[in-house]
Amino acid sequence: MAKTKIIIKNDKQIQWIRAASKIAAQALDMITPYVKEGISSEELDHICNTFIMSLWGHSACIWYHGYPKYTCISLNDTICHWIPSKNEILKPWDILNIDVTVIKDGYYWDTSRMYTVWEISEQAKNLISITKKALEIWIGQVRPWNFTWNIWYEIAKYVEAKWYGIVREYTWHWVWMDLHEEPYIYHKAPKNSWIIMEAWMIFTIEPMINVWSHKTKILKDWWTVKTEDSKLSAQFEHTILVTSDWFEILTLA
Ligand code: MF3
Ligand code: CO
Ligand code: CO
Repeated sequence: MAKTKIIIKNDKQIQWIRAASKIAAQALDMITPYVKEGISSEELDHICNTFIMSLWGHSACIWYHGYPKYTCISLNDTICHWIPSKNEILKPWDILNIDVTVIKDGYYWDTSRMYTVWEISEQAKNLISITKKALEIWIGQVRPWNFTWNIWYEIAKYVEAKWYGIVREYTWHWVWMDLHEEPYIYHKAPKNSWIIMEAWMIFTIEPMINVWSHKTKILKDWWTVKTEDSKLSAQFEHTILVTSDWFEILTLA
């Protein structure tokens, strides 16, 4: 069991967090009509950033461990952390994840969702709907005194029964006064690494699901993570607050 735990201290902080928590989700709503054939991922990145700044927030990604852009935009067989580029032009059959992490008033929110450009394959449709359902199942397990172990169990039962792969290397994380705080929690449990959820914890849930194999590879830029077999991958992410009796999704518009 992880030793550290992050507890939110008082109601006032939670009020602040709630008040400012909408920007990240609003950015993902705002960008939807721009996700069209012919636009570059760099343009999408800039539009998101301009929007976030217009609401007095800023991106937590830029220069995070040297990361050079404001958002992560991951296409097709990219699992996460693809660096937006002017050479990456959207095609009709692309599926993509846009991931924004916003800082406002010193607090962090992290959320991502999937977008489609035009006509996508049945396989891509299934992948996206299974990944979305996976996030919902996971969130449904969030409540005080539940074990993260139960979440893993439920999700593996659902995803692996369909022969999809749950990416193991990348984690949930606590989000509070920093983008990634320990303890990191895996989506597929290594033994003895569970946590008991308690009221006023905040963390992300962000399943990455691959068609078939869970295996990954990292490109030479040391950021971009792809599926090892070049099959499609999808991800959805929310930042969640554990309340006294249940949960609250902070990253809703
Ligand atoms: N938003 C990502 C997450 O969900 C983190 C991105 S870090 C970056 O954890 F540096 F790549 F932007
Ligand atoms: Co995250
Ligand atoms: Co994120």
